[in-house]
Amino acid sequence: DKLDLAVIVGSNRRESINRRLARALVRLAGDRVQARFIRIDDLPIYNQDLEPGRTPEVHRFTAELARAEAILIVTPEHNRSIPAVLKNAIDWGSKPADRNVWRDKVVAITGASPGAIGTAVGQQHLRQVLGALGALVVGGEAYVSFKPDLVEADDRIAVEATREFLGQWLDRFLGVASRMRPLRAVA
Ligand code: FNR
Repeated sequence: DKLDLAVIVGSNRRESINRRLARALVRLAGDRVQARFIRIDDLPIYNQDLEPGRTPEVHRFTAELARAEAILIVTPEHNRSIPAVLKNAIDWGSKPADRNVWRDKVVAITGASPGAIGTAVGQQHLRQVLGALGALVVGGEAYVSFKPDLVEADDRIAVEATREFLGQWLDRFLGVASRMRPLRAVA
């Protein structure tokens, strides 16, 4: 049956190109996944003083991640690093340390930018942060230089070479996530 896939877009922008890429990836994944887009734009700025009474949005965010079998993060690069809105969400998920929702999660990361190197530097930072939290980042690298006509209105990736590349990248990610399933069931 379908893999429960949580999708996080690292942008809070209405017309986000990363949201468009994320929708295209969900379409490419097809009936292998049950995808759920997880909101991060309604989380308060992390503050340890808020810990005794987490807001309902924070509880919803951590619960939705906790039950995911795999997580796909599609993010922009902000000033060669992780957008603050995404880092904030990661931080909420990481605390308290004994309930860090990232530990042992199978995660794939990608991202789009209008620039030539397509979020490569931001993804390096993201990879390091997720590694520190015990997430398993799989599938290899995928950097997308976004042109206005890359994703069509029906979420199809218009450029064949990009569609094939991202399709193979997704196959590796979903393949690993599927093989990890029996391990998660006994954990
Ligand atoms: C950017 N942008 C950007 N692009 C890039 O390739 N490398 C970078 O370091 C940055 N830095 C950066 C900082 C800030 C504060 C903003 C607002 C933007 C441009 C960025 O790639 C572009 O705005 C994308 O459209 C952002 O993705 P979303 O929000 O459309 O998904």
